[in-house]
Amino acid sequence: MKQQIKIAPSLLSANFANLQSDIEQCQTAGADMLHLDIMDNHFVPNLTFGPLILQHIRKITNLPISTHLMVTNPDSLIPKFAEYGSNYISFHVEAVPHIHRSLMLIKSFGVKAGVALNPLTPIEFAFSAAEYCDFILIMTVNPGFGGQEFISNYFKRMELLNDFLNKNNLKNVEIEVDGGVKIDNIIPIVQAGANILVSGSGVFEGNIQENIKIMKNKINEI
Ligand code: DX5
Ligand code: ZN
Repeated sequence: MKQQIKIAPSLLSANFANLQSDIEQCQTAGADMLHLDIMDNHFVPNLTFGPLILQHIRKITNLPISTHLMVTNPDSLIPKFAEYGSNYISFHVEAVPHIHRSLMLIKSFGVKAGVALNPLTPIEFAFSAAEYCDFILIMTVNPGFGGQEFISNYFKRMELLNDFLNKNNLKNVEIEVDGGVKIDNIIPIVQAGANILVSGSGVFEGNIQENIKIMKNKINEI
């Protein structure tokens, strides 16, 4: 099944002093979902926010929310992020000893479950998890910060992942790509097979609505 291409602005690059305005602009411009980056200053050298912020965001938007847990102990946070309205939750395979258990925990709340892989983590981790996943998050920067440069080994990894999903009748598994996604590289990224396009600085630097609209037009031209 061909997946719908979705633009998912990462709020990490939004203006936290006026989050509502930035979210409304994303929505007006036609963003398909929102991406929330949860960092614990342990798995990654940066700290963001917890479920409380999601609870407030959920009250002002109906957009689907994809919560990206960059934390060493996702199992302890999954219940609250599910309860407060995440539609998708991913955690890092590098962080957890029991990948299947964490996936099942997410699914037990009726939330779509995914694994996230750092840029140099063997793609085989995605192969073994895929049949239990609703989506796979492929990192194209080292997690922890917005505004980093896209690592182009993504293309080789996507070729391997697509091959695997095709051969195993798993084409319904969505692929989220995160890190350095911008207007200028969005076309080859989509052509390589990702359908959820996370973009932080690519959306929030400059004119939010214009950036999203240009991205959408580019996707429509493919
Ligand atoms: C990085 C985060 C990303 C980040 C992407 O660790 O997971 O979601 O916000 O930012 P850009 O699009 O600026 O690379
Ligand atoms: Zn992210």
